[in-house]
Amino acid sequence: MSIRRVGVLGAGLMGSGIAEVCAKAGYETRVREVSDELVKKGMGRIESSLGKAVEKGKLAAADRDAAGKRLSSTTKLEDLADCDLVIEAIVENLDVKKETYAALDRICGPAAIFCSNTSSLTITEMSSATERADRFAGLHFFNPVPVMKLVEVVRTISTSDATAEAVFAFAKSLGKEPIRTHDNSGFIVNRLLVPYLLDAVRALEDGVGSREDIDKGMELGCGHPMGPLKLLDFVGLDTTYAIAEIMFDEYREKRFAPPPLLKRMVLAGRYGRKSGRGFYEYGG
Ligand code: 3HC
Repeated sequence: MSIRRVGVLGAGLMGSGIAEVCAKAGYETRVREVSDELVKKGMGRIESSLGKAVEKGKLAAADRDAAGKRLSSTTKLEDLADCDLVIEAIVENLDVKKETYAALDRICGPAAIFCSNTSSLTITEMSSATERADRFAGLHFFNPVPVMKLVEVVRTISTSDATAEAVFAFAKSLGKEPIRTHDNSGFIVNRLLVPYLLDAVRALEDGVGSREDIDKGMELGCGHPMGPLKLLDFVGLDTTYAIAEIMFDEYREKRFAPPPLLKRMVLAGRYGRKSGRGFYEYGG
């Protein structure tokens, strides 16, 4: 299976990061968003991240320009017809994803591989909306995508060996470190990370320590780059809440149940960095 053209569905935080790393790695990359406004926003995010990489000495200016030339954008799903691999990073809503995959299945060639960047939804169910369950896998990136080395390569019970290997090799070709896992909600990382983040909220609720001390404890005591409450603000409280609900529904284990404080913060619109306030306040 040779992959030359990559389609990326969704140009949000994850989709734009994924498109950036694909274009940097030499793939012709086409990004699809649902409106011109979202296309513009996503492409702007990629441009500024590529600029930052040059500024930080991670990328030569000529390589930034070459990556820019390999990137194109569209609002039409039909424009992904000639892609060898499509990576989907749209809203975490199973019905919307299934509808999109069913349409894409009719548009793309029979050999094209579909990958979802979902963090917790069931990939098997998405693949059932297509006629290519054997050419369907998960490719789960981490935020910020251009910086984080890890990618989870997720097999469903229907994914063929050839597809799993092609997706693994593709992740490596992006300069990432892939790990293999199965289609269980949360895969490896979120299965371990989400209960930890929820426990940090419980610790704050129980008055175990201040927000600063809880974060400092994990940063200086365990060498984490960000304490759990800062990380929650970074990932998004709404996103974490949604992931926890899906995982709780899958496993029915208390450790995945979102604590009341997290729910109330989401209800109050305190989503973290994206809304200007979460456990901390952000300027602007
Ligand atoms: N392109 C390439 N490299 C870049 C870059 C860009 N656009 N922007 C920054 N970098 C590089 C920098 O050069 C630097 O490299 P160096 O360490 O070799 O010097 C490195 O990335 C860190 O950048 P900064 O110095 O600007 O920033 P910080 O040191 O403050 O680190 C951080 C920021 C990388 C976000 C760090 O705080 C961190 O790792 N936090 C934890 C993030 C994390 O856990 N993410 C996973 C979340 S869970 C998830 O995504 C799963 C989902 O399903 C919920």
